[in-house]
Amino acid sequence: MNKHANRIPPAKGKLGVLLPGMGAVTSTFIAGVELIKKGLGKPIGSVTQLQTIRLGKRYENRAPMIKDFVPLASLDQLVFGGWDFFTDDMFVAATKAGVLDAAQLAPVQKELAAIKPMPAIYDPAYIKNIKAANPKKGKTKMDLALQVIADIEAFKKRNGCDRVVMLWCGSTEILPAHAPCHDDLEAFELALKNSDPAIPPSMIYAYAALKSGIAYGNGAPNLSVDVPALVELADLTGTPIMGKDFKTGQTLMKTTIAPMLKARMLALTGWYSTNILGNRDGEVLDDPGSFKTKELSKMSVLDSILEPESYPDLYGHYHHKVRIDYYPPRGDAKEGWDNIDIRGWMDMPMQIKINFLCRDSILAAPIVLDLVLFLDLAKRAGLKGIQEWLSFYFKSPQCREDLKPEHDLFIQHLKLKNTLRILMGEEVLDHSGLDYYDADKGAVAPAPAPKPAAKKKALAKTR
Ligand SMILES: NC(=O)c1ccc[n+]([C@@H]2O[C@H](COP(=O)([O-])OP(=O)(O)OC[C@H]3O[C@@H](n4cnc5c(N)ncnc54)[C@H](O)[C@@H]3O)[C@@H](O)[C@H]2O)c1
Repeated sequence: MNKHANRIPPAKGKLGVLLPGMGAVTSTFIAGVELIKKGLGKPIGSVTQLQTIRLGKRYENRAPMIKDFVPLASLDQLVFGGWDFFTDDMFVAATKAGVLDAAQLAPVQKELAAIKPMPAIYDPAYIKNIKAANPKKGKTKMDLALQVIADIEAFKKRNGCDRVVMLWCGSTEILPAHAPCHDDLEAFELALKNSDPAIPPSMIYAYAALKSGIAYGNGAPNLSVDVPALVELADLTGTPIMGKDFKTGQTLMKTTIAPMLKARMLALTGWYSTNILGNRDGEVLDDPGSFKTKELSKMSVLDSILEPESYPDLYGHYHHKVRIDYYPPRGDAKEGWDNIDIRGWMDMPMQIKINFLCRDSILAAPIVLDLVLFLDLAKRAGLKGIQEWLSFYFKSPQCREDLKPEHDLFIQHLKLKNTLRILMGEEVLDHSGLDYYDADKGAVAPAPAPKPAAKKKALAKTR
C-alpha cells in the first residue's frame, strides 16, 4: 500500500479557482462549467469528468471513472475569480471572445456577469499590443505581490473557500533575460523589493500564490513559475506547481504523430507548421517578443521526442519551422496546417498533411478544468514542487533541471494514470502483458469451468 493511499483528505468545502488573465480561455472555461452544472453542456475533452481508469488485472474488469476513483472536487464546489486589466465581467468577456454564441451563453448570463476581474499587475515591458484599463498601483513589485496575497485572502473569506488553486491564463509575456534573481529565492525577494526589471507580472502572481501555499499552474509559455527561485519557494511552502503552455491544437497533433514516426523508425526530413488565428491571443502573439516565447515552447517538442543524438541518420537534419499569423476574421477558430516530409524504406520520400480546423479555447477549457482539479488533489495528497505527472497537459512541460521533459503524449498519459494509481495505493501497470501467460507470477485468471455441453464435445473428440 502506498504512503498516500487513503490518506488524501476528501475534497470538502469550496475550492476557489483564481485565474490571472480573464479572456477567451477563462471565460469559455467558466461558462462551460456553469452550463454543465445546469445540465446544458457536456464536459467533452475533460479527462477528470469523462475518463475511466483500469485497475488491477484485465480479468478483474475494474475500470471506475477517474472522478470516482480519486477524491476530486466536484463542479458544484468551484468558485471563480481572477485578475485582468480589462474590467469586463465574464459575461462581457465571453461575448467579446465569441467562442460560445449568445444563445449558449444566455442561460448562464447571471452567473458570468457576477464575476468581475480584480485589478491586475501591468508591466508594458512584458506585453505589447494591449493597453491596461485596470492596473494595480504599487511602489515596488513586492508591494504588488502583497496586494495579490491580500486579494487571495479577501476572495477566500468572501466566498467561504476551504482551498484555492491559481492558474495563469494571461497573455503570453515577452521572456525576460536570464537574471541571478531567477536562481535563488533570497535574491528573488530582494529583487521584488527593488522592482528588478527581470521580474515579469506572472512571476509576481506565482510568488504570491506560493507564499500563500496555493498550488500554481501556468497555461502560457512565459516562464512564470519555471525558475529555480520559485521552485525553491514551492518546496519550502509544500506547494504543487506545474507549467508551461496548454497543449491544445498543433502541438497536440505533433506529440501524437512524432512518437509514431519514431516508434516505426520512419525518418523525418522536415516539418512545416503554420497557423492563422484571430483572437486577442493572436494579436498579442503578433508582437515578435511574445511570439518568440511561444515559438520556443512549440519548437522544443520534436527534438525531445525524436532524440536526434541517438538516431542521427533518421532525425539529425530535419527542418522545423513554426509560424503563427494574426488573421482577425478567424477569431478563436484557429486553422493549423502541417506539412511533414518523411522517408521510408530505401530512403523513399513521403508526405503527411494535417489541416486542423480547431477552436483554441474549446480545446483549452477542459485542460483548465482538469488542471484545477488535479492541482488541488496534489495539494491535498501532500505532493509539492513540480508535478511532472501533469506534463500531459503542457506543450513545454516543466521538469527538474537535470532531466529532459517528456513530450510523448502517450507516455504522458501513462504517467498521469499511473500516478493516480500510486496515489490510491493501486498497482502500477506496465502493460507488457507478460504476466498473463506466466502462471508463476500469479496473474493468470483461474480458467472458467467448461460448460457441460462443451465437456461432452471435448470428450467425444478425445475418443
Ligand atoms: N487557447 C489555447 O489553445 C491556448 C493554448 C496554449 C496556451 N494558451 C495561452 O493561454 C493564455 C490565454 O489565452 P486566451 O486565448 O484566453 O487569451 P486572451 O488574450 O483572450 O486572454 C488573456 C487575458 O490575459 C490578460 N492579461 C494579460 N496580462 C495580464 C496580467 N499581467 N494580469 C492579469 N491579466 C493579464 C489580458 O488582458 C487578456 O484579457 C495565452 O497566454 C495563450 O497563449 C492558450
